Amino acid sequence: MRADQDRSGIKGAVHTDLHHDSAIKHVTGRAEYCDDIAEPAGTLHAYLGLSTRAHARIRDLDLEAVRSAPGVVGVLTAKDIPGVNDVSPTGLNDEPVLADGKVEFWGQPIFAVIAETRDAARRAAKRASVSYEDLPHVLEPDAAREADMPYVTPPLTLKRGEAVSAMENAAHRIKGRMRVGGQDHLYLEGHIAFAIPGEDEDVIVHSSTQHPSEAQHMVAHVLGVPSNAVTVNVRRMGGGFGGKETQMNLFCAVAAVAAKKWNRAVKIRPDRDDDMSATGKRHDFVIDYEVGFDDTGRIQAVTGEFAARCGFSADLSGPVTDRALFHADNAYYYPDVLLNSHPMKTNTVSNTAFRGFGGPQGVIAAERIMEEIAYHRGVDSLEIRKRNFYGEDGRDVTPYHQTVEDNIAPRIVSELEQSADYQARRQAVLDWNAKGGIVRKGIALTPVKFGISFTATWYNQAGALLHIYSDGSIHLNHGGTEMGQGLNTKVAQVVADELQVDIDKIKITKTTTEKVPNTSATAASSGSDLNGMAARDAAIQIKDRLTAFAAERWQTEAAKVRFVANAVQIGDETVPFADFIREAYMARVQLSAAGFYKTPKIHWDRATGKGRPFYYFAYGAACSEVSVDTLTGEYRVERTDILHDVGRSLNPVIDKGQVEGAFIQGMGWLTTEELWWDDKGQLRTHAPSTYKIPLASDRPRVFNVALADWSENREQTIKRSKAVGEPPFMLGISVFEALSHAVASVADYSVCPRLDAPATPERVLMAIERLKG
Ligand code: MTE
Ligand code: HPA
Ligand code: MOS
Repeated sequence: MRADQDRSGIKGAVHTDLHHDSAIKHVTGRAEYCDDIAEPAGTLHAYLGLSTRAHARIRDLDLEAVRSAPGVVGVLTAKDIPGVNDVSPTGLNDEPVLADGKVEFWGQPIFAVIAETRDAARRAAKRASVSYEDLPHVLEPDAAREADMPYVTPPLTLKRGEAVSAMENAAHRIKGRMRVGGQDHLYLEGHIAFAIPGEDEDVIVHSSTQHPSEAQHMVAHVLGVPSNAVTVNVRRMGGGFGGKETQMNLFCAVAAVAAKKWNRAVKIRPDRDDDMSATGKRHDFVIDYEVGFDDTGRIQAVTGEFAARCGFSADLSGPVTDRALFHADNAYYYPDVLLNSHPMKTNTVSNTAFRGFGGPQGVIAAERIMEEIAYHRGVDSLEIRKRNFYGEDGRDVTPYHQTVEDNIAPRIVSELEQSADYQARRQAVLDWNAKGGIVRKGIALTPVKFGISFTATWYNQAGALLHIYSDGSIHLNHGGTEMGQGLNTKVAQVVADELQVDIDKIKITKTTTEKVPNTSATAASSGSDLNGMAARDAAIQIKDRLTAFAAERWQTEAAKVRFVANAVQIGDETVPFADFIREAYMARVQLSAAGFYKTPKIHWDRATGKGRPFYYFAYGAACSEVSVDTLTGEYRVERTDILHDVGRSLNPVIDKGQVEGAFIQGMGWLTTEELWWDDKGQLRTHAPSTYKIPLASDRPRVFNVALADWSENREQTIKRSKAVGEPPFMLGISVFEALSHAVASVADYSVCPRLDAPATPERVLMAIERLKG
């Protein structure tokens, strides 16, 4: 890493450690978030009135007390929407901004109240009187299947070979069912939108969205104006994690409608309880699987039914449940396989993107299957995993008929097995448990393989806009959004590297629909893959023009023009970058360029379930050891070792941070984070008081995280790096399987414990009690 820095001689070259460009501002509180933007005089505040029924007709909506409350300027209901009352990202028209005549989940926005202060709006919203006529409601995905609730979006089938007959012929068969819980994003900064009206139809919306272009198009749709009247700006988010891919559309729309109606700036920011009740989360699943395998534990056939709680509308449930199926193989070859998704409509908030985007729910099914086989055969589950890895000889095709060309899972796993001292520590765990004490230990080593690219192929495009001003300073803009993941830093490194200038010459600017149009959500971990390439394209265009200019002006060949550290070398002469730019400007060279990129090689035919949806795969593995108190079910993570593949890292220290954060978030999903709805459909875990995310004290006592420094993307990605945002989330599964291992010890590992996720202490205790009984 150091060598590159020395060779290039610039600050912030690619492949070097560089802290997040806003790190100091983050920790000193000087980073500007949406709520910190100075409010123009006369700014109003909106607050939402939410449904208190899971499914009901609205018989009467009496808002008189709301209207007459102190400080209230007015209210908005469905009939005040000037354009279309819909923010469905699918175009299915199934997601009203404000409920119209009926509500389909507890927490659904029914009206908005606009007042002089946020406090006044919030108090006024509580004064509504709504009379409901209750309708039957269904909350759980399996109950939804039994009740013949509709799919919110067409299901997917992945099929290769003849799973049903292969299953019949298999030497051994196991059937199982697992429930996998959802997850709230718990971003530090909640949802927020701030709309400033302009002349004619214009409106500017500042927001904290991962998808400014979609917010722009939604605001236009709801206002009934063309997209060119709407600008959406995002400087940064205080975390998104997928929760702000679509869910911000509603807030942007409400703020914009109110801003245009009263011709004053309007801000909307729900408090945490309402944010958690009214916006979507990770999908929870009920997974029914069957596996057939031979005496050695090698899989012959797999079938799986993946039912998801999608909530009342489609939102992103189609691609999320698709991605669950795409990852139900994880790193393993299934000779004959049949997988079906069941994206169930339920009377709950519409679930949405969350780090991994359905992938984790697929991967955990694969890992449970490995554990089932291991207990059945009486073999270490790591050995079973190895026997089932994708391989060379015809064992390299996924259930969606993409060939795995870059399989490094075996190498990652065997290196981690060594560096974590897995075999000796596993023996020590077995020896400890053999003593029969109250505290039992468990250990598990689990791999991950994650497909990179949006499965909606057209999403895999990006743009950038680069200006060099005549003083040599550089303005960089691209379509990606910064949510803490360090995207802006990485993209700036790419430009610094291409132009060979110090990174502090490059100004990173807010994402805005005015500079780069029709962008995709910053999601699917592809932010730096896509926007890094687009920015590089812009830099190369300017560089080409500058090279041609230099060759002509200095009367030499283009081959003799080189961009070196903060200077341009032309033949024997070296001109400082700023002086060179000044000359280029005087010679009327265009110093601005729009860059573009689209991912090559990918295609996907959903109808046949065949294609190459992913450009490449990212890999990783984690080994976790836990201690469990068998009298209370309480546990702690003693040690976790991780080896993760990010190709040739653009920025190793940022990538390591992503790996650590993702692991902890994945661990939280599978251990302490439990969403609980009561019978009436009200989410009761709607604040950090009742919804427990991991604390600093919950991190593994020993935590060794390494990047596979030998890895290089075999595809021509930006500087041969790999996406990092989501794949390490699934490393948290090692903690879940280690807990399962500790639980199994109470029955001498004779059966695979039935353990649903999250494995809260309560569930761990129940699993122990079941095995003891
Ligand atoms: N890291 C931080 N700090 N905050 C976030 O909100 N979101 C994750 C991941 N890492 C997130 C994060 C998710 S869900 C995705 S898809 C990626 O970042 C998106 O950014 P990237 O594509 O630039 O990696
Ligand atoms: N991942 C994340 N977000 C998305 C995707 C995806 O595959 N498709 C649409 N939005
Ligand atoms: Mo990430 S779930 O793709 O925003």
